[in-house]
Amino acid sequence: MKQRNLYIKTFGCQMNERDSEIIEQLLLPMGFLPVADMGKADLILLNTCSIRAKAEQKVYSLLGQLRQYKLSNPRLLIGVAGCVAQQEGMRIQQKMPHVDLVVGTQQMYSLPELIGRLDNGQSLKPRIDLDPCFRIPALREISAAGKQPPSPAPRSFKKFVTIMQGCNNFCSYCVVPHTRGREISRPVADILDEVRSRVEAGATDITLLGQNVNSYGQTNQVADHPVTFADLLRQVAEIPGIRRLRFTTSNPKDLTDELMRCFAEIPILCPHFHLPVQSGSDRILAAMNRKYTVADYLDRVAGLRRYRPDLALGTDIIVGFPGETDTDFEQTMALLEEVRFHSSFSFKYSDRPGARSSSFDNKVSERVKSERLTRFQKRQDEISLARNKEYLESTVETMVEGEGKNGLVQGRSATNHLVHFPGTAERALRPGEVVLVRIDGAGQHSLTGTLLNEKI
Ligand code: 5AD
Ligand code: SF4
Repeated sequence: MKQRNLYIKTFGCQMNERDSEIIEQLLLPMGFLPVADMGKADLILLNTCSIRAKAEQKVYSLLGQLRQYKLSNPRLLIGVAGCVAQQEGMRIQQKMPHVDLVVGTQQMYSLPELIGRLDNGQSLKPRIDLDPCFRIPALREISAAGKQPPSPAPRSFKKFVTIMQGCNNFCSYCVVPHTRGREISRPVADILDEVRSRVEAGATDITLLGQNVNSYGQTNQVADHPVTFADLLRQVAEIPGIRRLRFTTSNPKDLTDELMRCFAEIPILCPHFHLPVQSGSDRILAAMNRKYTVADYLDRVAGLRRYRPDLALGTDIIVGFPGETDTDFEQTMALLEEVRFHSSFSFKYSDRPGARSSSFDNKVSERVKSERLTRFQKRQDEISLARNKEYLESTVETMVEGEGKNGLVQGRSATNHLVHFPGTAERALRPGEVVLVRIDGAGQHSLTGTLLNEKI
């Protein structure tokens, strides 16, 4: 079998990162080996994100640049997968005729067959499929197709496991239900198998992934008895060998007390939680179809902090949703002051195809959106810095990731902070190893410290 070079460029969320790993696994038996240099690839696949207009523009801009690659190497294959592929379909090849292959979000598993057809000189129509009953194959089905490719060594201890796909919430701004389809949960047994095999292969840091993990098991049968996400989390936590367990993403409306209690009761569940609030205005939350109020959100935050006082809380914010007034935005700023998130991702609202809010009146001008975003981010940066200073003089369990900037070792705390510290000649550190670091410096985005000698 001829060996060929594969380059996958992944945009967007951790779901896409995991999908790209699966694509690598699927293509390995066809002789495709990942390379670090896009210029050396025989197949370039863009695994795309369409969550915001900017994400989609990035994909088109890279596709434009790839035209040159194709001119200098006509045998190069260029493919587009993921959410932009699902959303745009035929339009991609109309705008970018040098693209050979477009596969929808649920077509990833047909990639070997589709590439085989391209190899045989058959032209392909883009295959777009939003069948609500798509299946997520178990890992054993994927690995039957070939051995797992080596993951980049420094990160191989850290693994994502997709537990469900799609979303039924239809938040009015969101394209996900349109690109990823309806919610479907994987069977418990498949998930446990996959986590076990990851741990056997050396993973110690596991993140369970889904668009809305809190509704795991609510829309389809996942075992011969009803299973909640909290039940699944407890079962995963029992698997020996996991040192750190995380999950993302959660919609506050479905965050049950049972799940919040897991933060107090599962020792390996990290004290780090991403709980997107989107806005601090009840009027805007209603227009977003989020189905909770600011008071509900604050109630969940209080509950979480009761169970886990050291919890580091992150969120997502959209500024400039259609109809957002100065008063609404001030309420978002007030919420930021009240919760004092450790970190946040904040975005200017953008219209997305199929999302209901695209047809709403009272769009906010770009200028106002930019002003609000800058103000929010500036205040968040100050709060993140103040929050990070709270770790000064404390000792933090840090999982080694590899070499960081300025020759320092880079690691991560259980609260998901980046931690940098000087290594020592006497002690060789392995990625994945957990060490104790005394924190003596705090910046907006990371902590610095000194390695302690005690072993844990
Ligand atoms: N415009 C701006 N931000 C959006 N997000 C989702 N859709 C949009 C949109 N149309 C943000 C939300 C979500 C995060 C992943 O992206 O904050 O939580
Ligand atoms: Fe989009 Fe809302 Fe579903 Fe999240 S919960 S993926 S924001 S529709």
